[in-house]
Amino acid sequence: MTQGERVWDYRHWMFEYAQCGCHSENVMANRNWIGCGGLVAFVAVSALALAGNAWAADVNALAESCAACHGKDGASTDPDMPIIGGYSAKYLTDSLTNYKNKARPCPSVKFPAGPHKGDSTDMCAIAGKLSDADLKSIAVFLAAKPFVRARQTADAAKAARGKQIQDAHCKKCHEDGGSSPDDDAGILAGQWMPYVRHTFEEFSSGQRPIPKKMKPKFQELTKDDVDALVNYFGNFK
Ligand code: HEC
Ligand code: HEC
Repeated sequence: MTQGERVWDYRHWMFEYAQCGCHSENVMANRNWIGCGGLVAFVAVSALALAGNAWAADVNALAESCAACHGKDGASTDPDMPIIGGYSAKYLTDSLTNYKNKARPCPSVKFPAGPHKGDSTDMCAIAGKLSDADLKSIAVFLAAKPFVRARQTADAAKAARGKQIQDAHCKKCHEDGGSSPDDDAGILAGQWMPYVRHTFEEFSSGQRPIPKKMKPKFQELTKDDVDALVNYFGNFK
């Protein structure tokens, strides 16, 4: 490989990087340096280091903003805030895109902590501020974290009944009590019960679009069935 080819390669790579929308200022500054020829390798290495840091800082700052409600690494300790660490990247991306497009209801919520403590917002407003690149990077970040099950008390008898309903109607898409991120359907086992109850209400009232094949299963559920299912998911420790 000649020096010229290497320069082109490097520029091409940086151009692609710049297109991702990440810190093009640094990229432009470094591009001018390339004219110095002999410094190419050094610039490439330092630019990589810079790029790496810039990327990490961005996603960490983003994760910090989510942590105000969803807890560190998405392991929410607040019963009204879903645990989102450990969900699949696909489910996270899809959900955030749905909020962004207002295809999912956005109940108003107050920041319980952080610099905006007490201010009202909602997930549509939050997702609406994320670029597509931000959205993907936070989804990948959270998907790499463990799903930390909620510490809560469920009714054992209701949970046992809930298991039967789950096995008969939900298992196909929510495997192992809804504990597998690979279902791309959220994680239900160990999720906060008030949040799960709330999603049932949103699905039944038609506010949240319900997956086509989940709909008939949902329509068959009585109020007691829902209560049993909520306790079943909540009973995972
Ligand atoms: C002010 C509090 C708050 C902040 C900040 C916040 N969220 Fe949320 N988030 C919520 C609430 C409340 C819900 C449940 C909304 C609902 O019922 O649809 C939610 C729901 C979600 C869901 C859907 C969960 C599911 O099981 O379907 C995802 C994904 C999500 N948030 C991701 C994020 C990400 C990523 C960030 C940071 C960029 C973030 N949230 C910041 C409060 C917040
Ligand atoms: C044909 C597949 C399928 C079946 C059957 C099914 N679901 Fe789902 N479920 C999904 C998908 C896909 C999603 C994600 C929907 C979305 O994009 O918001 C989901 C989402 C959910 C959610 C919301 C998760 C969250 O984090 O917000 C709950 C709760 C749920 N399902 C419960 C059930 C229960 C209980 C049953 C059985 C009575 C059931 N589902 C049957 C596919 C299915």
